[in-house]
Amino acid sequence: MIHFNPETKTFNLLLKSSYYAFQADAENCLVHLGWGPRPGGTNEEFLLTGKSGYETSDVEAFERQTRRDELITFGDVSYHEVSLKVNFSTLPETLNPGEFPHLPIRDVRLRYAGHEIVTTAQPGLAPTHGQPPAKSDIRETLRVFLQDPVQPFRVVLCYRLTPEHDIIERWCELENLGQELITIEVCSFATLHLPNGTCELTSVTGAWGREFTPQRERLPLGLRILESRTVQTSHAANPFFLLNRPGQAWEESGVVYFGLLAYSGNWRIAVEQLSSLDVRIHAGYNPFDFELKLAPHQRHVTPALVCGLSCDGWGGASRRSHAFTRERVLPRPERDSSVRPVLYNSWEATYFDLSVAGQIELARKAAAIGVELFCVDDGWFGARRTDHAGLGDWVVSPAVFPEGLDPLIAEVNRLGMKFGLWVEPEMINPDSDLYRQHPDWVLHFPGRPRTEARHQLILDFGRTEVVEYIFQALDRLLAQYPIEFFKWDMNRYAREPGSVAGKDIWRKHVEGVYTIMDRLRQKYPKLDIQSCSGGGGRIDLGILARTDQVWTSDNTDALDRIRIQEGYSLAYPARCMEAWVTHAHNHQTGRISPLSLRFDVAMRGALGIGASLNELDETELAEYASYIAFYKRIRHVIQDGDLYRLQRLEEYGASVIQYVLPNGREAVYSIAVREHQMGWFRPPTPLKGLDPAAAYVVLDRHGAEVYRASGYELMTQGIRGDAGQGVAYSRTLYVKQI
Ligand code: GLA
Repeated sequence: MIHFNPETKTFNLLLKSSYYAFQADAENCLVHLGWGPRPGGTNEEFLLTGKSGYETSDVEAFERQTRRDELITFGDVSYHEVSLKVNFSTLPETLNPGEFPHLPIRDVRLRYAGHEIVTTAQPGLAPTHGQPPAKSDIRETLRVFLQDPVQPFRVVLCYRLTPEHDIIERWCELENLGQELITIEVCSFATLHLPNGTCELTSVTGAWGREFTPQRERLPLGLRILESRTVQTSHAANPFFLLNRPGQAWEESGVVYFGLLAYSGNWRIAVEQLSSLDVRIHAGYNPFDFELKLAPHQRHVTPALVCGLSCDGWGGASRRSHAFTRERVLPRPERDSSVRPVLYNSWEATYFDLSVAGQIELARKAAAIGVELFCVDDGWFGARRTDHAGLGDWVVSPAVFPEGLDPLIAEVNRLGMKFGLWVEPEMINPDSDLYRQHPDWVLHFPGRPRTEARHQLILDFGRTEVVEYIFQALDRLLAQYPIEFFKWDMNRYAREPGSVAGKDIWRKHVEGVYTIMDRLRQKYPKLDIQSCSGGGGRIDLGILARTDQVWTSDNTDALDRIRIQEGYSLAYPARCMEAWVTHAHNHQTGRISPLSLRFDVAMRGALGIGASLNELDETELAEYASYIAFYKRIRHVIQDGDLYRLQRLEEYGASVIQYVLPNGREAVYSIAVREHQMGWFRPPTPLKGLDPAAAYVVLDRHGAEVYRASGYELMTQGIRGDAGQGVAYSRTLYVKQI
C-alpha cells in the first residue's frame, strides 16, 4: 500500500512486514525517513508524518552533507559519493550580477514537484519477449517527480511494490526538457539509506571456477565498492548485497537489508559509511568510463535495483529474493510444465571431438537413463574444430554433420528428448569468415591493439547492423531446425572497449544481448535459454528475465560445488541453478568423488548430466537412472520450494539444506559433509516449515522409509541418526506428509 499525507507531504510505503517512508520537506527536498520492520497494524494514525525519522547528525561545521536525500545528487552533495552527476551546457536564465558564465554547470538539485501512483510502470531494459512470469497480477508503482529549480531537467523516482515479499523495485527516469544536450557522468538506479550502524556486509567474491564465494565483513568508515568493469556481470563479484547490524542478524533471525541489480553490464554497488555512521548505498551503472547523453527531449529509464528487507535473517532475505525471482522475473511460458527438465550436455564427454554417430550414441544412453533435454555443446559450426576458429560463423559444419543437424535432432526427438545447442553469439574468432568480411565489427580502438582472449574478440554491439546480423544468424538456425534450447555462452571480458557507440558501448552491449534474446523468445515461444559465461559469469536479475536457467560454474567438482552453490543461494533460486553430475575423476580439479555425492550436490538445483556415458558400465548407468528417477519425484519441491540453509558449510564443514513447499506438505532434506575428521560431532538439524500437527514419513531414493515422525518432532529434534560424527557422507531424503 502506498499512502500519501498531503498535509505533511509524507509517503508511507507499507509492505507485508516492512515499511519505507520519505517526505518532501519545507524546501521540497525529498528526504528519506526510514526503512525497517513494520510494527503490526496499518491504522493511518500510526504512519510516519515526518516528525521523527532516524538519527541525524549535521552538527559540525565540516560535515554538512548528511541529509538523506532520496536520490543523492552532485550539487546537494559534493564531498560524499553521489548517485547522479549531470553536466548542463546551458546557463540558467538568471545569473547573479557579476557572475562569470563558465560552463558546464555540474550542479543538480532535485526538488519535489508532484507524484502519481500507476499500475503499468516498467523499469528500463524490462523484457519485451511477451512471456509473462508466473505471477503478473497488478502491482502499484509510485512515481515521484523531481525537478531542478533552474535547469530543464526532470527525474522521476519510481518505487514498484511487491508487498508479499517485502520488495521494492527502485529505478529512475531522467528527462531532458530543454533544447541542449545534457551529459550524465554518474547514474545509479537508486540511493538507499540504511539505519545508522547497519554495517555488516555479506557479498560474494570469486573467479572462473570459484564463483559465489561468500564473504562477510564489517564495513570500515568510507567507501566499499562492489563492481564489474568487464562488460558482463563478472565472476569476481555479483550484483547483490546483504546488510545488517553486526551481531544482530543470523541465518534465521534479525533484520537484514538486501538488494540485487537487474542489469548484466558494468555495474557498481557503492556502500558508504560516513563518520556520522550514516550508511548509504548507490547502486546502478558503473561510473567507470561511463557517459550517458540526453539529447533535447530525450528520456532515459534506468534498469531496477530490487531491494527488500527480511525480519528473519539472511535466510529470510534469500527466500524473499528467490520467491521474487521465481514469481516475477523468470519467464514462465504457458508450455512450461512447471519443472525444469533433466539435461544432458556432451561437453565434458567429447569436447571438440564431435560426430553424428558419437552424439547419437550418447543421446540413446542419455534417454535410457531418463534425460529429457539433450544439448550439443561447442564445436558444431563453421571451422570450429578447436577454440582457435569459427566463432561468428553460425552455420552447421558439413565436416561434422554432413547431412546437417536433422538426423541427430530426429533421433533425439524420437527418443523423447528436446534438442539444444551451444552458441556464443557475442564473440568472433579472427580466424572466421565473419571477421575476414568485417574486421571492423569488433570492439577496438582504431590503430591500437586488439587483444585476444581464448583466441577471440568481442563483436561491437554498438553497431545496430551487428546486432541484427547475429539475430538473423540465430533466427535462421531456429527456423531451420526444431531447436528448443540455447546454451548462450560468453567466454571473455572486454579489453579495448572502442566502439562506434563511444562510451555508450557498455550499455549498448547489454541492450544488444537482451534485444536478441527477447526477439528470439518472442518469435520462438518454445525456445529455452540458459545463460552461461565461462560458468557463472552472467547471473543477475536482468539476464534471468529472459532466460530459464544459468550455468553456475565450469567447476563441476562436487565438493567445490557445495560452496559455490551455497554462495549462489544467498541471492538466486535453485529452480534456475543448473548443476551437472560429471565423471568420478573430476576434469577440473582431478579429485575423485563417489556418485552419491555428485548426485546429492547436483540434485540441489536443476539436474544435468555431463559425464561421458560411454565410459559407464551397465551397473553405473542403472545407478544414474535410479537417481534421475528419484530427482523427478522430488524436483517440484527443489525447484519451487522455500530454501532453508539449516547448517552452513562454515559452521561444521557440512552443508545441510532443506527445500519445503509453502504448504508444508513436502520437503527435501539434503546433507553433504565437506570437511570431516573423526571425533568431531555435528549437532542435529531441526527442519523448518512443516506442519507440527501432521505426520511425516522420510524416504530415501529407493522409496524406503528411513524415519517416521510428527512435524513437531522433526522441527524440534531433526531426523534421528542424522547428527553423529563428522564422517564424509551425503544423502538426500524426501520428507512427505502422510
Ligand atoms: C565455456 C562454458 C563451457 C563450455 C565451453 C565450450 O567454458 O562454460 O561449459 O560450453 O565454453 O567452449
